[in-house]
Amino acid sequence: MSVKASMQMTEGFLWGCATAAHQVEGDSVDDWSLWEEGVGRIYQDQRSGAACEWWRGRFAEDFDRAATMRNNAQRISVAWSRIEPTEGQFDEAALGRYREMLLALHERGMKPMVTLHHFTNPIWFADRGGWQADDAPSLFVRYARRVVESLGDLCALWCTINEPMVLATQGYLFGYWTPGIKRLKAAAQVAANLLRAHAAAYHAIKAVQPNSQVGYAHHHLGIQPKAPAFWNRFAAQAADQLMNNAFNDAFLTGVFKLPFSQPVTVASAKGALDWLGVQYYQERLATFNPLKLGNAIGTQKPPGVPVGPDDWGGIVPENLFKVIERLYKRYGKPIYVTESGVPDPDDTLRPRYLAESVRAIWRALGFNYPVQGYFFWSLLDNFEWAEGYDPRFSFGLFRTNFETQARTQRMSAVLYREICAHNGISAEIIAQYVPDLLPKLFPGAPGAPQVRLKERF
Ligand code: BGC
Repeated sequence: MSVKASMQMTEGFLWGCATAAHQVEGDSVDDWSLWEEGVGRIYQDQRSGAACEWWRGRFAEDFDRAATMRNNAQRISVAWSRIEPTEGQFDEAALGRYREMLLALHERGMKPMVTLHHFTNPIWFADRGGWQADDAPSLFVRYARRVVESLGDLCALWCTINEPMVLATQGYLFGYWTPGIKRLKAAAQVAANLLRAHAAAYHAIKAVQPNSQVGYAHHHLGIQPKAPAFWNRFAAQAADQLMNNAFNDAFLTGVFKLPFSQPVTVASAKGALDWLGVQYYQERLATFNPLKLGNAIGTQKPPGVPVGPDDWGGIVPENLFKVIERLYKRYGKPIYVTESGVPDPDDTLRPRYLAESVRAIWRALGFNYPVQGYFFWSLLDNFEWAEGYDPRFSFGLFRTNFETQARTQRMSAVLYREICAHNGISAEIIAQYVPDLLPKLFPGAPGAPQVRLKERF
């Protein structure tokens, strides 16, 4: 008897890639394009510039690439700065351009998931206080409502805000991103406003489009204490509360509680979620250094696992299972993996990363955890925020040559096509594309080294 082992997803599982407007569209005029003009903020002082030229029309050829990979879904974002370039004035031409993009996805058999906010803001919004202003949530909701009224016939799967805690901490606690503020109080205020904005947008979208499915994209940071010393454990708990729990817990309680901050009641957040998006990239070790006044909690790379460039942490894709389990047990919502990927220009880690992530999801489905789809970050190399076009931070299934705009397929793109076509992984796919993983994923498969029983016991 020959066994053809296979780890397949449920019928109707969504397979796709994720991108964000500012990172691929090019010719952006928003708070980030202004920030990029400052010295020392972006790798080699680069600017996003033409990016992947989607706004000039290249989205169509890249959607063809996604379709070739047998993707049946795609996560894109729309830019608030284009849709409402002046406060209160909506640009029909920009909305029309996004219609074209959504139609292009449908024509290629891909279901769109649209993110309304992926890190960037219109300049007028930033100028009047950005996410620190009290009326920021209501301004966001007016925009969100307008988008859903205009595009709701082409999209029913909405992601309100991408990684609010990353936006709040990078921009307002660590000061790496616009607006470059370094104050916990400011970060807490911004995070609370992002929560209010999400909750209000959730209710507004459901009112305009009752059959819509509305969620948000949560960045899940894997955090362990560096050593079991209690002070490092304390640091890990604080970092976990800040990055992983506080925002999500508000959907259960209506109360937002960041470490070292007063609880804030956001009653409208309670239950304001149809699904939870998880973006899981890296593991970090938390440390506590009482000598570093005001900056005592830090994180570092874990030993013994592959790590990314610069301070990018440990790359442990199989942990995606634990992350899904934890999120489902705590929040009980359907889950989409809205981003998952690895900075890897030579495509040495990505095939394994991809296969292990898919296996982690299959395991989760086997526990009846309702994972609905997987969106790989990213379809092609793009503008990686403060890392700009640093080649070490290449996340694409396709390589982008930013001088010529030529795209080259990486081996992982071929593997992803096989995975999407098969609705999962099989021993044959792994044997062909990631043979090193065969003993781990399919130990009984021909070609996988056999371990004798007596060696095991
Ligand atoms: C963000 C993306 C980013 C990716 C890789 C995610 O946190 O949503 O915009 O490019 O990580 O760093």
